[in-house]
Parts: sequence; C-alpha cells; structure tokens
Amino acid sequence: MKKFILLVLICNFSIFNFCKADEGMWLPMFLKAMNETDMQSKGLKLSAEDIYSINKSSLKDAIVHFGGGCTAEIISDQGLMFTNHHCGYGQLQEHSTVENDLLTNGFWAKSHEEELPNPGLTATIIVRMEDVTKQVLANVTSGMTDAERDKKVNEAMVQIAKDAIKDTHYGAYIRPFFYGNEYYLFVTETFKDVRLVGAPPSSIGKFGGDTDNWMWPRHTGDFSIFRIYANKDNLPAEYSKDNVPYKPKYVIPISIKGIEENDFTMVYGFPGRTTEYLSSYAVNMIMNESDPAKVKIRETRLAIWDVDMKASDKVRIQYSAKYASLANYWKKWDGEIRGLKKADAINKKKLFEQDFLLKVNTDDDAKGKYGNLFSDFQKMYSEISPWSKQRDYHSEAIMGIEAVSVASYFYDIVDAIKSGKKASDLQKRIDGTKADVADFYKDFNAVADEKICAAMLKTYIDNIDKTKQASIFSEIEKKYKGDFKKYAKDIYSKSIFVSEEKVQEAMKNLDKNYKKIEKDPIYKLMYSCLSKYKQEVLPKYMELDAKIASLNRTYMKAMRELIIDKKYYPDANGTLRVAYGKASGYYPKDGVHYDFYTTLEGVMEKENPSVDEFIVFPKLKELYKNKDYGQYANKKGELPVAFCASNHTTGGNSGSPVFNGEGQLIGTNFDRNWEGTMSDIIYNPDQVRNIVLDVRFTLFVIDKFAGAGYLLNEMKIVK
Ligand code: ARG
Ligand code: GLU
Repeated sequence: MKKFILLVLICNFSIFNFCKADEGMWLPMFLKAMNETDMQSKGLKLSAEDIYSINKSSLKDAIVHFGGGCTAEIISDQGLMFTNHHCGYGQLQEHSTVENDLLTNGFWAKSHEEELPNPGLTATIIVRMEDVTKQVLANVTSGMTDAERDKKVNEAMVQIAKDAIKDTHYGAYIRPFFYGNEYYLFVTETFKDVRLVGAPPSSIGKFGGDTDNWMWPRHTGDFSIFRIYANKDNLPAEYSKDNVPYKPKYVIPISIKGIEENDFTMVYGFPGRTTEYLSSYAVNMIMNESDPAKVKIRETRLAIWDVDMKASDKVRIQYSAKYASLANYWKKWDGEIRGLKKADAINKKKLFEQDFLLKVNTDDDAKGKYGNLFSDFQKMYSEISPWSKQRDYHSEAIMGIEAVSVASYFYDIVDAIKSGKKASDLQKRIDGTKADVADFYKDFNAVADEKICAAMLKTYIDNIDKTKQASIFSEIEKKYKGDFKKYAKDIYSKSIFVSEEKVQEAMKNLDKNYKKIEKDPIYKLMYSCLSKYKQEVLPKYMELDAKIASLNRTYMKAMRELIIDKKYYPDANGTLRVAYGKASGYYPKDGVHYDFYTTLEGVMEKENPSVDEFIVFPKLKELYKNKDYGQYANKKGELPVAFCASNHTTGGNSGSPVFNGEGQLIGTNFDRNWEGTMSDIIYNPDQVRNIVLDVRFTLFVIDKFAGAGYLLNEMKIVK
C-alpha cells in the first residue's frame, strides 16, 4: 500500500502527465539540468559531465555517427569501433563475390594491412553542440508568412554554421527542435577513411534474418568491426595507404561482469526520427492509411524478389542488401500498426486533445492563439490525405520498379539538353550519372524487375483514383486492356534500361542520343509518372505539409506553455541523444512473459539446417557442445547472446553503445521489439524494449569462434 501511494505521488496521474518511466531521448548538453539526478537515482555512477563535456574528454568523444545512418562506438586507442553487422552490411556486400563471399563466411583482417577500405563511408564525432535559437530567429517577426520565416531561418542557419567552423577542419549543421521552436548547432569532425576489420558470418551476424527481425527473444550476433584511420597528424583525411589508426580522445572500457534484470542501462547514439507530439489526426493517417498501403506494396515486391533470390546465388548476393532494407521497414510498419492499435493511440491522443482544449479555453489569450488548433489539424489532414496516398504509391510502387528508377536518373538531364539552355554543370551531372548507372546495374536483375513492374502498375491503378493517375495509364489501358504482364513483357523486351551496355552506350553522346532515350518505353512510363508527381503531387503535398508543420510548431509551443509540469524531450532528428532505462523483460500478451536475456541455448533451439536464416555454423556448434565459453559465460554457466531493456530508441540507434551505471560497455544496440515499434509515435512503457547484443557474445565470437583474439589486446576489458 505504501508503495502504491508513493507511486501516485511520484507519477501524478493526470491525463497530461503519465508516469512514463524511461521514455525520452535526451540532449547530452542538457543532462545536467534535466536528467542527472534522475539518472543517478536509477543507478548511474557517472556525472553528466562524464557523459558530455566540452572541457574534458568524455563518453561523447567515443560515439560515432557511422555512415550517417547508424551509430558506432570507439573501443580502442587505435580507433577500433563496434557497430552492427546490418550497419556494415552494404560494405560486406560490396567486398563480396560468389568466390569470396564475406556475407556467408565472415571476415577477419589479421593485420592492419588486411583491413578493407570503404570509399564513401564516414565516421563523424560531435565536437560540441550549442543552443542557437536566438541567433536563428533574430530576423523573424511575428507578422511573417511561413515562407518568409523559412527564408530568414535558412539564411541565418547557413551563416551561423559557417561562422562556427571558420578556419577549422570541422563541419557544422543546425537542426530545428520542437518543430522549429528551438535550433541547435552541432560542430562535427568527420573521418573519411574507415576500414572493415571484422565481421561474423551472416549465420551469426544475421541469424534469424527477416523472420526474427524486430523480434524478441532474439539470437542475432549483430556486430561488425571497423577502424577509423587518420593522417599523421591524427586529422581526417581521404583514404591513403599512409594513413594511420586514429587516436581517439576517449576509449570506452568493456565490462564482461554481466548484467542483471533491472540494472541501469544507457544508450548513447544518433536516433533518426520520431514524432511523439503528433495530433490524433496525424496518427490516424499513419495508422489507417499510409502504413497499411506501404506494407502491402512492399509485401508484393518482397515476395517476387524472394523467388528469384532462392533460385540463384548470383541474384541472392545482388539482392541481399536491397531485400533486407526493404523488408526492414515493411515489418516495422506492420508492427507499428498493431502497436498503435493495442495502445489505443488515437483515442488516447483524442482524450488528451479534448482536455487540452478545455485548458486552452479557460484563458482568453490562449484561446485566441490556440483555440482553433485541432479543427485546423482536422481540416489539413483531410486535405493532405489523398496527396499523401499518391506520394506513397509513387515512391513505393512506381519508383519500386527498378528500371523506372534508373530511367529517372535521366529525367532532368534530357530536359536540360532538350531545352537548349545547357546548364553549366550538365557535363558534371552526366558524369555523376554514369557512375550511378554503373553502380545500379551491378545489382540488377531484369527478370525479377519485369514481374515487379507488372505487379506495381496493377496496384497503382487499383488504388489511385482514375482522375489522379498519370496520363500513360489511359494509353496502357487502351492498348493492353489491363494486362500489365503483357505490357511489362513488351517494354522490358524493347527498352535499353534492362541493359547496362545499352544505357552506357546511349550516354556516350547524349546530345544526339537523348531522342532515343525519349522514345524508350520504360523512359516514357517513368516520364509520365514522374512528371505527374513533380508537377502536381509533390507541390501540393509540400504546400499542405508546410501548413501542417506550422500548426505543429504552434501546438508544440502551446503544450510547453500550458502543461508546465512535464519534462519535454525533442523528437529524434539524427542528432546525438542519451536514453536511459533498465534491463527488463515484458509481457507481450496475456499469460506470456519474456525473460530479459537469451543464450546460445536458444540459437540451438532455433537451428534449422534447411532454412537459410537458421543455419548454425559447425564451429559454433562445436563450441556449444563443449560448453567452451571461457570468461564469457554468465554465473549460471550459460553463454549470453542478447538482452532487452526499456531504453527509448529508434532507427539510427543501431550500433549504439549500451552502458552500465559505471559507463562501461555492456552491449551494442541493434533492434526493437515488434510490440514496441510504435514508440516512434507513442511510448508504452510496458511494451517498448530495445534489443541489445550482449558484449560477452561479441567477444566470444571474436575470440573463441573466429580466433581473432588479438583484437581483444587493443580493448580495455573489465572483468
Ligand atoms: N530492425 C533492425 C533495424 O531497424 C535491423 C535491420 C536489419 N536486419 C534485417 N533482417 N533486415 O535496422
Ligand atoms: N535496427 C535499427 C537501426 O538500424 C534500430 C531498431 C530501431 O528502430 O529501434 O537503427
């Protein structure tokens, strides 16, 4: 009873202030003011200054934005990093051939010389961050239109970022926070020579594949190892064999002491995008329109690829990365729909909005400023809904036809040549396109794509109102009477876009050949669809979206003004954040409980030699049979593989370090549970879990499985 009263006191159960334990992705520079006390009461032994400091080296100096889309952590004084297998997957694929298949066999560089360079891959570290709201909004006045405001804001952002890095080798960007109510500057240092050091075979790094993706309990050894190289002065440089391993400002120690349920956990990384403060109208559009449409379209594409990938090893390698990336959000959106329904998200938001409006209406000033917010939202979402649908079908279905997407590389170029007004950078664009074309055809299979084409066009005409379809559809209808297979067969047999040689040939003299491209049937299909999209759909969508953005800004301001007893964290936007919580199992459904950790035992339970995703390498089985786990076993003698915790994370947090209370690495974040994928929109503390690879499994694989124990000599391991 005492406990209950205490809980009520702490939580303050008003509609505005749920006690949502562990929700939030916090800005490192505000930890001291907003979170330090709370974090320490939950088990953090460090200070906020140990986590983020501009005066001394701190954890932040070892947190890396990996390739712009994932996170990595520095774990040696020679620039060695852990990230996820799926974050390095593109690089692993690039280095793979049928004869030397790094995906299937794994890869371990035995010396620095064997580490593989990855042109284009970057590693970015945050130097400092700063609130620049005042400066960004200095020239914004209340009477401005949204367009005028945007212009002033953009001008200021460019100037401030430029000034911030004057005479340095740093980069800088400014991002809006709280829907443009605040702006923060990030000064960065970006390394461009990042080499592959090691990765387990996919049967470990991707164990469970798409079947287990977004699922707990999980048994995936989802890690890979890279190293940052710098020039002799320890500064970022383009790849050169003279570069040397980077000496970081901070090295993360690794703990193999293990973790117990309810232990403090902290995730430090670069979450990509969340939208936690949306109105019920927005959630309705996502849950009932956009997500379901995208899920259905992707399902069709995946099923077609699957058949062709199973039939040929070449196609399997060509399409593995594309398949994984398409499948990933297909499954995420599906989980998100279910999670939103289960959390009764729309009704919860509606209740909140009703109460909020009551509050607004008690104050004349607030009523004047915010009284129409929800009716405005309602109006805007009913207007944007059909355009949003067209946008989804364009990007997911039409541009999901790969030959159409490669043809679209020529859309602007052909128009520029035709207009006679040759842009000064035309030749540069053509050269760039040549490289993109070469890149594209490495991983293209026309047989599968022809089937995709037929299926996608069918789905488009079945779902998009006839009056809103691109004009080519009435021609196809006339000539082919709805037989899209026949149409696809026809255009794929005639088009140059099914053959790299033909496209490269046409590019040799585009001044003349553009006419040939224009007559090409796949180009024509692309041209009609993309013109419709660029000239009609996108402008309208963007116009309405800008109005919604402005409403969101007002709504956010209103909430912070009127509900003052709540701590607000800004939505994820690809900037550095800290999330904290605890290791914790959960009840996914009535009567079912999931434990917070998994072990190698579970890998063996899932083993299935006849299903690709569940094959277990003989060497791993041998280690299992002999229980040869060395110092990596837990107290019960089991070999831990993964654990789940209540940290609030999202896409981009993959590869993020997961720390214990002492600031030691206990794992690498790699996923979220399916029941919790709606946490990008609404956080439900009993259901949302991030999924972490236990670092003991990582070290076990490096040491015992791969025999690459020499890498451990670089690391600081705490026993
Ligand atoms: N769901 C994880 C994330 O969002 C892992 C994705 C990669 N794995 C896969 N089987 N597709 O990125
Ligand atoms: N796998 C995701 C990523 O690549 C993390 C999972 C999530 O969305 O939480 O960032």
